[in-house]
Amino acid sequence: MKVLGLETSCDETGLAIFDSEQIDSPNQGLVGQVLYSQIELHATYGGVVPELASRDHIRKLVPLLNELLEQCQLNKSDIDAIAYTKGPGLIGALMTGALFGRSLAYGLGIPAIGIHHMEGHLLAPLMGANPPAFPFVSLLVSGGHTMLVAARGVGEYEILGESIDDAAGECFDKAAKMLGLPYPGGPNIAKLAESGTPNAYELPRPMLHKGLDFSFSGMKTAVHNLIKDTPGSGVTGDNSDPQVRADIAASFQHAVVDTLVKKCIKALKQTGMKRLVIAGGVSANTYLRERLTSELAKIQATVHYAPPALCTDNGAMIAYAGYERLAAGQADDLSVSCVPRWHIDELPPVKSGMENHTAPIALGE
Ligand code: KG4
Ligand code: ZN
Repeated sequence: MKVLGLETSCDETGLAIFDSEQIDSPNQGLVGQVLYSQIELHATYGGVVPELASRDHIRKLVPLLNELLEQCQLNKSDIDAIAYTKGPGLIGALMTGALFGRSLAYGLGIPAIGIHHMEGHLLAPLMGANPPAFPFVSLLVSGGHTMLVAARGVGEYEILGESIDDAAGECFDKAAKMLGLPYPGGPNIAKLAESGTPNAYELPRPMLHKGLDFSFSGMKTAVHNLIKDTPGSGVTGDNSDPQVRADIAASFQHAVVDTLVKKCIKALKQTGMKRLVIAGGVSANTYLRERLTSELAKIQATVHYAPPALCTDNGAMIAYAGYERLAAGQADDLSVSCVPRWHIDELPPVKSGMENHTAPIALGE
């Protein structure tokens, strides 16, 4: 089954084709993917402007689809089904991909399904060679969400804990902004931190001993105060010392990663599970991966993650999550409804042979 995946929930237009019949080939089913980032468009505003995001998705969807088909040497008629991001995300941005995908599927007489963006992230590490088996604990760390989920199967998710305020990615972005680094902050902080000392400055580990929920807003305030009070932390001039700036970035990254690692270990112990799967933009962070690999080895647990390009927003994860649900007989009807706020534990489970959660209606008649 060749599934076209469309991701338009925020500021990336991502399209990909996943072919279940090529799972054993070197591309592991990912026939091709294209990604257009709107980062430059929003840069002057210091954050994503929703209306501009929607308009840009509309401009890019058709040319990107043509580019993808050419890359894959396929025609539209070769596509068997379409999966689009239905939520959570910016409502206008979601609507562009959903309406485009739903209409294209109608025109082609093939099924379409709306996918939960965070389920896309959660399942992305399963696309690679030797995918981790269920059950596992998933740490979902993106720009909008920080969550620990017990995943017992596709669609069988129990939220163990989540951020009560800022998401980890958001915290990286805000700390980067305070250091005068461009958006998205995560990769830029990580790069600056490479030449810094993780223990140079002491920063808080909020809510470390309180269950599995997270809080990152206190960390944000602490970094703000640290930058304000530390000579050399500025971007230019006499108040800019590259080593001081690198030490601040490294200490911040260390504090966030430390918090994430400790909560992951707690979640594994609480559930008795031995596999941790990390997903979402922040899971691309090398320091987080290294720390988890070494710390989990001490409790005989393993950590699994996707290649960096599949950690941040992309169309491939939506195509793959779509395939998992379509293969189980699920599909949506012709109505298009997007859900800007949507909890991952509200999703229907996927059991092979189960009845469709919404009956697909006959198309092309
Ligand atoms: O999953 P994602 O692409 O988009 C959302 O669904 O939000 O995540 C984007 C977030 C941004 O906050 C970005 O700064 C962060 O992921 N990020 C990173 C790294 N790469 C991306 N954070 C830390 N280290 C990285 N290497
Ligand atoms: Zn995302």
